[in-house]
Amino acid sequence: MFGRNILSSVAVEIGASRTRVFQKNMGEIFSAPTLIAFRRGRTRTDSNIVCIGEDAHPLIGRAPTSVEVVRPVASGAIVDTEATVLYINRIMSQAIPGFWVAKPRIICAVPSASTLVTRTAFSEVFRNLGCTDVKMVPQHLAVLAGCGVDFTKRGGTLIVNMGAGSTDVAITSFGATVANTSIKIGGDEMNRCIKQFFRRSRKIDIGDATVEHVKKEIGCAIYSDNYGTIKTTIRAKCLETRRSVAVDISKNDIAQAIKPVLERISDRIFDAFECVSPEIASDVLSGCAFLSGGVARMESIQDYFRSSTAVQFQNLGSQQSLISSGLLNILGQPRSFSSYFG
Ligand SMILES: Nc1ncnc2c1ncn2[C@@H]1O[C@H](COP(=O)(O)OP(=O)(O)OP(=O)(O)O)[C@@H](O)[C@H]1O
Ligand SMILES: [Mg+2]
Repeated sequence: MFGRNILSSVAVEIGASRTRVFQKNMGEIFSAPTLIAFRRGRTRTDSNIVCIGEDAHPLIGRAPTSVEVVRPVASGAIVDTEATVLYINRIMSQAIPGFWVAKPRIICAVPSASTLVTRTAFSEVFRNLGCTDVKMVPQHLAVLAGCGVDFTKRGGTLIVNMGAGSTDVAITSFGATVANTSIKIGGDEMNRCIKQFFRRSRKIDIGDATVEHVKKEIGCAIYSDNYGTIKTTIRAKCLETRRSVAVDISKNDIAQAIKPVLERISDRIFDAFECVSPEIASDVLSGCAFLSGGVARMESIQDYFRSSTAVQFQNLGSQQSLISSGLLNILGQPRSFSSYFG
């Protein structure tokens, strides 16, 4: 009745900002913000979901008091299990015909240095929905598999995946992960720094959705004398008069505001180098290094890390479904990857 879909394998990336679902033979079947809105004060059940994903996005900062908008994943971990289960159930039921009858095989990306508790929490979401064949794969391996790198045959390879809530820094060499850290900062922390920067320097409060928009529109990683004049105008609330005001923001404002976040990521890259042999470090420095995740889309970020760490990164940021497609590649070669499944 439901044909091939029921039997297919499904790759899931539940990010702090977006969730992506890929199905074997079908490609991407779902991609939307990891957001779910409930009727406040009622038991959280499927029937009390107001909306999810793209439909919930405009409610951020604008939801009526009767509606609660939840971001169930933050900093690389599930922070609200109940909401995550209801969210995943809703998207799977919508995207996969017959999900309620027969459960597909699931492969899910988890932060590279995640603890057993975090991996178990992700796995439990699917088990709660009746899925029994559930595999967890560290994010950095999914990145490599997504861009077609056979990491079992390559020497030192550095992967820096910068998401909304977390950044993974890992080095692999001939199939082994030899350095591995996850930091709980990424695009969301940049937004916090931008908000803070303008509260202090210009005494204005910028809304969350506006900060996110401005960062993507004019954000850049490197301060430049030429950038002072490139501006965008936004509306914000003046902290002194409490009135709405129009404010000009320049590229350099953003570069200055997010600098502390970039410096912390650079420090983690140096920490990773300290864990590896000179040979592996030399492989990485000769060009085996990748930047991925949404933050890698920011203007001049590759140049920033080249000057701060001397590593020549290849930027994979534009490949939005790299991790999900990498997960499916991994499922296609279960033997080569069996030792990495958590
Ligand atoms: N052009 C851009 N410039 C700067 N930041 C960007 C740009 N495009 C996307 N981002 C940021 O990338 C982040 C989303 O990246 P990604 O989709 O990799 O995150 P995620 O996988 O949902 O999060 P995580 O991996 O932390 O759970 C957001 O913080 C977003 O603001
Ligand atoms: Mg991610």
